Amino acid sequence: MSGERPARVLVAATGGVAAMKTPFLLRRLREAGYQVRAMASARALAFTSENALAVAAGSAVATEESWFVADGAALHLELARWADLLVVAPASAASLARAAAGLAEDLLTAVISAGAPRVLWAPAMNPEMWNYPATQANVARLRGWGQDFVGPEFGALASVTEGSGLGRMSEPETIVEHVRYHLSQKDLRGYTVLVSAGPTREYFDPVRFISNPSSGKMGYALAEAARDRGAKVILVSGPTSLRQPWGVETVRVERAEEMHQAITSRYQEVDAVVMAAAVADWRPAETASEKSAKKKGPQTVELLPTPDILAELGRRKKSQVLVGFAMETVDGLERAREKLRRKNLDFICLNFPTRTGSAFGGDSNEVEIIFPSGATISSGRVSKRAVADKIWSLVRERLTGREKEER
Ligand code: CTP
Repeated sequence: MSGERPARVLVAATGGVAAMKTPFLLRRLREAGYQVRAMASARALAFTSENALAVAAGSAVATEESWFVADGAALHLELARWADLLVVAPASAASLARAAAGLAEDLLTAVISAGAPRVLWAPAMNPEMWNYPATQANVARLRGWGQDFVGPEFGALASVTEGSGLGRMSEPETIVEHVRYHLSQKDLRGYTVLVSAGPTREYFDPVRFISNPSSGKMGYALAEAARDRGAKVILVSGPTSLRQPWGVETVRVERAEEMHQAITSRYQEVDAVVMAAAVADWRPAETASEKSAKKKGPQTVELLPTPDILAELGRRKKSQVLVGFAMETVDGLERAREKLRRKNLDFICLNFPTRTGSAFGGDSNEVEIIFPSGATISSGRVSKRAVADKIWSLVRERLTGREKEER
């Protein structure tokens, strides 16, 4: 978010059945803490209603009708100055064409030409219309002017007879992610960071493994937060059911040994590593090449330790900022302090997996951040994204040599 006040997002719906989703987008943006206003073209109102948009936005909707009422105000100028970001969702082929032609004949194009600072288009149309050369030329022209696009995506199209194709508007959650990217301060620009996430799987035959319940959510939140703040991000991920984050180089691995290889081979090129992965500490000494049968009776599996990736990074550390996690059920502070020292970390984030609101797989977390000086700070119970942003702020202080209170 920019400055003192919440960032302001103006959402404009144009004609298309995806306008049904615009109220949901407004709602998601408000939940994410943005101040919103809605605008709708006459054709958009054939698919959604002014009432639905007004309720979702919490304020009156700007329409062609409300544009030139005789109140002496110039709505297009007022909206262009109010917005930090204009999101056109859905964006029709016609709206792209009008904007690319530099017209200012309807409220949307008037707001754009009156200097709306940034524009994010979320197109929705039939695949033929999207692929039509004029549409593609319009998109290229708008991009050339610094405007940005989210979607369209491949998927089921509105008309059931059309099946699926490339033309579906991105889901409101995806659009919110792009909004966040546009409105975040780019204070990690120029840095490359590596984040590890998720569990590892240590197989003892082709279909059975030792693992843990890590969902990967904390690591993915870290990767997305760093991307939004302008960093080049490498995400080394164990198996998770999470969607691959856009704008992040994702390397998928399964075993601790593969994670070790993926991370150490990139260590030289990165400025910071945050190890959020729950690496399995043990692997079976042998992996059977065929599935072993139950009728063989009780089995004993010999376990060997996996490589401690973070400890190795600590030993090889040059200027990199190194951050670890410690998940403890007992003697948390003491054990985390020992890991911080042993692995040569800049700080460690202590998790409490047995506390409510911090358990595996949840969307919130509570960490105690521990520094080599012995100082600690608590994140409080907040979203994983908020924990991620706190961690990056601390990493950034260390990258720029401006550590504060903890020294
Ligand atoms: N870690 C790692 N490689 C391993 C095990 C852990 O890089 N083989 C990293 C984790 O990603 C985490 C930190 O080390 O950032 C601490 O992990 P944790 O499992 O709590 O510590 P261990 O060193 O494995 O100690 P123990 O399991 O005995 O508590």
